[in-house]
Amino acid sequence: MRHVITEGEEVVSEILVGPGLIDGSPLLPERDGRSQVAILTQPAVTGLGEVVAERLAAEGYGTVSMTLPDGEAAKRMGVIEDVYRRLGTAGVARGDTIVGIGGGALTDAAGFVAATYMRGVEAVFIPTTLLGAVDAAIGGKSAVNVDGKNLAGVFRHPTRVVVDLDLLAELPESLLAEGGAEALKSGYIGDPSLVALYETHGLGAPLAEVVDRAVTVKAEVVSSDFTERGRRAILNYGHTIGHAVEVAAGMSHGDAVAVGMVAAAALSEMVTGFDGATEQRDLIASLGLPVEAPTVSRARVEELMALDKKRDDGGLRFVVLEAVGRPAVVHADPTSVRAALAAVGIEEQKP
Ligand code: GLY
Repeated sequence: MRHVITEGEEVVSEILVGPGLIDGSPLLPERDGRSQVAILTQPAVTGLGEVVAERLAAEGYGTVSMTLPDGEAAKRMGVIEDVYRRLGTAGVARGDTIVGIGGGALTDAAGFVAATYMRGVEAVFIPTTLLGAVDAAIGGKSAVNVDGKNLAGVFRHPTRVVVDLDLLAELPESLLAEGGAEALKSGYIGDPSLVALYETHGLGAPLAEVVDRAVTVKAEVVSSDFTERGRRAILNYGHTIGHAVEVAAGMSHGDAVAVGMVAAAALSEMVTGFDGATEQRDLIASLGLPVEAPTVSRARVEELMALDKKRDDGGLRFVVLEAVGRPAVVHADPTSVRAALAAVGIEEQKP
C-alpha cells in the first residue's frame, strides 16, 4: 500500500506499508547526487541497522552508522550536537541522506538532525514500533526537548517512510498498546471504523488495517495543512494534557496520550455535550492503557501546559469531540480544564 502526502499537486512524502519491505523493495527514493547514507538507530534495533547498512553498501552507497540513546533521551540537544559532529567528520554532505530506524523518539531526533544539518538533507524513516508507524514517523514535524517536550522543532517531510509490517508483527503487548493509543486517536478524530476495530479485536486488531487506516487519516490531514495553521491541530487530540502528563509523570508517550484522551473526552462532554466519554475510557482501559495519572501534581501539569505550543492569544487550545470522527478545536475555560484533569485523577497540588 502506498500513501502520499501532497502539497498542492506535488507529492512531498510517501509512506509505503506492507510486509517484507526491508528485504524486498528499494529503501531510498531514486535520485541523483546521493553518495553517502547516515543510519541513525537506537540500541534495540542495531541489528536491523546493520542489515540496512549492508543493503545500502551493496547498492554502492558509503554508510556511517550511529546509535542514539533509547526513548526521549535521543531528543536532547547534547545528543543532537554530537550527531552533527559525527556527520561532519564522516563527510556527510548536502546531497546525502539520513535514514532513521527506530521508534517515535528516534525518528523525531533523526528528522530534526536531517532538517537542520547543513540546512537540511533528505530523511527516510523506517519505524519499528506501531506508534512510529501510525504517527511519529509521518507528517514532517520533528523536535527536540528543551524543558517542555518538543519545544524546538521544524517542519520538513521525510521523502519516504517504509513501514515493514513484519517488523511490527513481533512487538510486545506494551508497544502494541502504546501505538494503539495513537491509532485510536486517528479513529476518534477521523475514522470511526478504527475505533470499531479495537472494540472488536482489542490489541489483536489486524495491524495491516490499523496502520493503513491510521496513515490514511494522518496523510489526509497533513496534506490539508502541513504547518498547522488550522485543521492539522486536530491531530493533537489528547496531546495537550497528554504531553504535560508525559513530562510530569515520566510516562511513555502512548500511555500519556491515553490519559490525555480520557481527559479530552471528559472536556468534550462539558464543552460540546459529547456522549461517548465513558465508552472511550472503557475501551482505552481494556487495551491495558492507563486512564488516570493520580500521582501527578496539578500545579506541575498546569505549568507544563503553559509552555505548550498550542497556546495563543485566547489561551490554550484543546481538541474536543462533538462525536466520534467529528473533532473541534476550542479555547476551554480553566474551570472545565481542571474538571477534565480531575477526571484522570489530577485534582490538587501534590508534592
Ligand atoms: N512527526 C510527527 C508529525 O509530523 O506529526
